[in-house]
Amino acid sequence: MRRLDQLLASLGYCSRREARAWLAAGRVTVGGQPADDPGANADPAAVRIDGEPPDHPDGLLLMMHKPTGVVCSHDGREGPRVYDLLPPRWAARHPPVTSVGWLDKDTSGLLLLTDQSRLVHRLTSPRHKVPKVYRATLDRDLASDLVARFASGTLQLDGEIGPCAPAGLKIISDREAELTLTEGKYHQARRMFAACGLTVLTLHRTHFGPLPLEELPAGEWRGLPLNYFD
Ligand code: URA
Repeated sequence: MRRLDQLLASLGYCSRREARAWLAAGRVTVGGQPADDPGANADPAAVRIDGEPPDHPDGLLLMMHKPTGVVCSHDGREGPRVYDLLPPRWAARHPPVTSVGWLDKDTSGLLLLTDQSRLVHRLTSPRHKVPKVYRATLDRDLASDLVARFASGTLQLDGEIGPCAPAGLKIISDREAELTLTEGKYHQARRMFAACGLTVLTLHRTHFGPLPLEELPAGEWRGLPLNYFD
């Protein structure tokens, strides 16, 4: 059961103050009857707002194919944001929708977004070792000894206290590799290759844990069950 004004405000429809006017205008029904008390409790399943069920009242978990050129920051001064690709109402949701870790502006591929902070923690904490798989193209040929260097758990990045955890590197072709990371240091993939004298030209995330990006077109997203990663 949720207070009606709190339900409308937390899902981004209007402020709690505006909820009173929404109810007075008959825009909200409970069990088919117009509701007039913003403080009344209701089961979200029985609520209709402008005739529609409430939008994801239990929370959100989404996968997006992040295109290059958009940022994971909430700050619009850094460029177009991944949040601008979502329904505008979601910008006013509480708790807020955030990305599960970041991809760089120049990185494309699978990005998770959620309003479940425990899920963010579980999927990003290095302790949980959730594998993330990237496809990288490089500016020069990959030497085969790189596989052992990445797997060694000794690769040291400038400015980091400890070395990188062992990472999986599969050489796909002369200048293309698949990299599996279980942690998310700042610009980690680019910096690991840079530490070995290579520049990443393109970087694309194909998997997050058991979830593949597959054929989702760039810029599009789809919902996942909240318990997908349980
Ligand atoms: N590593 C990077 O360098 N950039 C990303 O966006 C993700 C991993």
